[in-house]
Amino acid sequence: MLQIKNLKAYYGPIQALKGIDLEVEKGKITCLIGCNGAGKTTLLKAISGMLRREGSIVLDGQVELVNKPPRFVARQGIIHVPEGRHIFPGLTVKENLETGTINWHGFFGRKPYDRELEEVYALFPRLKERQNQLGWSLSGGEQQMLAMGRALMARPKLLMLDEPSMGLAPLIIAELFEKIKEINTEQGIPILLVEQNARLALEISDYAYVIDGGRIILSGPSAELKHDPRVIDAYFGKFAQKH
Ligand SMILES: Nc1ncnc2c1ncn2[C@@H]1O[C@H](COP(=O)(O)OP(=O)(O)O)[C@@H](O)[C@H]1O
Ligand SMILES: [Mg+2]
Repeated sequence: MLQIKNLKAYYGPIQALKGIDLEVEKGKITCLIGCNGAGKTTLLKAISGMLRREGSIVLDGQVELVNKPPRFVARQGIIHVPEGRHIFPGLTVKENLETGTINWHGFFGRKPYDRELEEVYALFPRLKERQNQLGWSLSGGEQQMLAMGRALMARPKLLMLDEPSMGLAPLIIAELFEKIKEINTEQGIPILLVEQNARLALEISDYAYVIDGGRIILSGPSAELKHDPRVIDAYFGKFAQKH
């Protein structure tokens, strides 16, 4: 559904992506793994239109997204859950979720969105329990659920998750990854998952890309890559004890 060809991206004069080729398939979980500073976040930002880019990003074989503004990309249903969650600390959980509907309403609160809200609450009952609590008062895991819930309120065609496991305890991570799988299998939403935690990402995904220095250095079905010694040696060390 998303075809990326020879994508380059820049922070001012600095080139951070050096010609990326990557595909996201309909209905699948595609993951992008790599060390800190490899270019994972940059790739998601480049897809979302937040950086100067060259190359090609084609949606559904039809719509060219390079040179389109973030607003256009989001309106196509490509929804980005950023690294660090970025929920609104001064809004309640429910209000945070409501902000996710801005895109498809034209403006905030114009149409009813009770169905979306109920779906998100069904997936994350903890958000329902805490719906009137302010964002800042949530735990890290709950904030990640909220950021994902907010993205789901937008009825995404493609969900992009940047390091959902970051800073969370292993048990919470396991619970979140179950939910990610559920979003994919039960709602059929394709996911582009960015993770430093390679072992987990390969466990949950169908296809994987390894990025290093702004280049894709390896790719293949996740079931194969998780047995690839090059991946195990370079990316499993840090997390190997936990799972
Ligand atoms: N705002 C920025 N300005 C300049 N360089 C940046 C900026 N953000 C990231 N970079 C550089 O781009 C490269 C990739 O960073 P990033 O995509 O954040 O890595 P990752 O998400 O894989 O940890 C790094 O070398 C980083 O220093
Ligand atoms: Mg990052």
